[in-house]
Amino acid sequence: MNKRYVIGNWKLHGSLSKVATFSQQLRMAPATDVVVAIAPPYPYLGACADLPSGCGLAGQDCSAHNSGAHTGEVSASMLSEWGCQWVIVGHSERRTDLAESDQLIVAKLSAAISAGLTPLLCVGESLTVRESGQEEAAVRAQLQAALSDIPPASLLIAYEPIWAIGTGVTASPEQADAMHAVIRNELTGLMDDGASVPLLYGGSVNPDNAGALFDCPHVDGALVGGASLDGTSFSEIVEAAQASLRQ
Ligand code: PGA
Repeated sequence: MNKRYVIGNWKLHGSLSKVATFSQQLRMAPATDVVVAIAPPYPYLGACADLPSGCGLAGQDCSAHNSGAHTGEVSASMLSEWGCQWVIVGHSERRTDLAESDQLIVAKLSAAISAGLTPLLCVGESLTVRESGQEEAAVRAQLQAALSDIPPASLLIAYEPIWAIGTGVTASPEQADAMHAVIRNELTGLMDDGASVPLLYGGSVNPDNAGALFDCPHVDGALVGGASLDGTSFSEIVEAAQASLRQ
């Protein structure tokens, strides 16, 4: 795929002053085949509208509902009104901390698509599952549960092994590439356009390891947590993505 995606997931981090500092640090090349976006906490979406042009916005999650009596929820159409083009769905922290079910994830994918957003569906196995050798089956099962009934017309996938998230332990390029090949194979069976769905890797991506990951044939980009909080390190990851396209 002759395009790369670098999406920063700020999780529950940031402040108005940090948005301003990030904006000053972020270096965006004028014309590029690297799609760049940040998913800030909802209250900072407005402030992030002032980020350098070329850096888009994503939601970290969305409600399965469009409106109604659902205190604390934010709908996909609200995210769209704030300029979001993408929304993360099924992040492992939500699957674990908030017990998000496969059924809820399907409903959120559907809500995102109805609002015109492109979902970034996260899948990935726990350390226990990897150690038992069941990682491919687990990831295939997550894809089937999310995409069997109504696969979205437009979609990104992030493979985020749970043991690599926020731990400083990145999957090796070989591990990431092997799982991305499995995901590609599964997607082509589940969706008409499965061969062209961008596949991002996430889990302790940083400026030092991004280049080797982007060089993997089946890796089309990165979902970046901790290293996206600093505009300089995030810019270095974007530059590694640009360099991988020039080769
Ligand atoms: P990390 O987070 O880069 O801090 O490991 C990635 C993610 O959870 O999206």
